[in-house]
Amino acid sequence: MSQPLLEVENLSKHFDVHHLDQRVFAFSDVSFRLFPGQFLLLRGCNGVGKSTLLRTLYRSYVPKHGHIWFDAVEGRIDLASAADVDITALRRRDIGFVTQFLVARPRVAADELVAEPLRLAGWPQDRALDEARRWLGEFGVKRELWRAYPTTFSGGEQQKVNLARALVLPQRLLLLDEPTASLDAGARHALIRRLGALKAQGVAMIGVFHHPEDVVELIDVQLTLAVKEMADVAE
Ligand SMILES: Nc1ncnc2c1ncn2[C@@H]1O[C@H](COP(=O)(O)OP(=O)(O)OP(=O)(O)O)[C@@H](O)[C@H]1O
Ligand SMILES: [Mg+2]
Repeated sequence: MSQPLLEVENLSKHFDVHHLDQRVFAFSDVSFRLFPGQFLLLRGCNGVGKSTLLRTLYRSYVPKHGHIWFDAVEGRIDLASAADVDITALRRRDIGFVTQFLVARPRVAADELVAEPLRLAGWPQDRALDEARRWLGEFGVKRELWRAYPTTFSGGEQQKVNLARALVLPQRLLLLDEPTASLDAGARHALIRRLGALKAQGVAMIGVFHHPEDVVELIDVQLTLAVKEMADVAE
């Protein structure tokens, strides 16, 4: 079998809530391996640490203990301790994150927002815009909205733009945090089709899905996080 794309070792993250003098354990001692083209379903009840784990893998949070070995093109790198500049480069090219919230920017049209990752990857402007519009259409964003600013879009429309932007380019690892919340059936099917195509191209995925039956055909492995008790702060 090929080399794992991701190897997570004894990863732990907690938050110190100072005004309560308490420690909230998001997750602790998580270990797993993920290979190219594998889909891992992350499960567990509300507040168990699923979103925090995804954000830690994306290095929006720094873990307290453990390692996140990522098989980067230049060699294995520990995302838990990598320099910010390396993380930024990996996010542009190798690691994508899809949440249910669009980070819309004022006065940037929907098609421009979706075309941006393609332009950063060196696509000519015209081709990037054509491809962006194709994906907006695929996810069911009305044609008259393609040149409009998504700041005024409905929640579902914003999420469709978000998905088109996040999935327009195949990355090597995709982190998905409830990406189907507030999508209509058409967009949900377009998303599942796109994830299936990306998986077939070797993209590895870790996803939290409120309705896992949506993605049942994609799942290779499951990881269930268990509840931890709050503890008094003590080193
Ligand atoms: N920035 C933070 N500061 C303090 N506590 C936090 C912070 N972020 C998350 N937590 C706590 O960490 C725990 C895990 O939260 P997280 O959002 O990861 O849960 P989740 O499994 O994604 O839940 P849900 O299914 O509701 O989305 C929760 O108890 C939450 O209150
Ligand atoms: Mg969550």
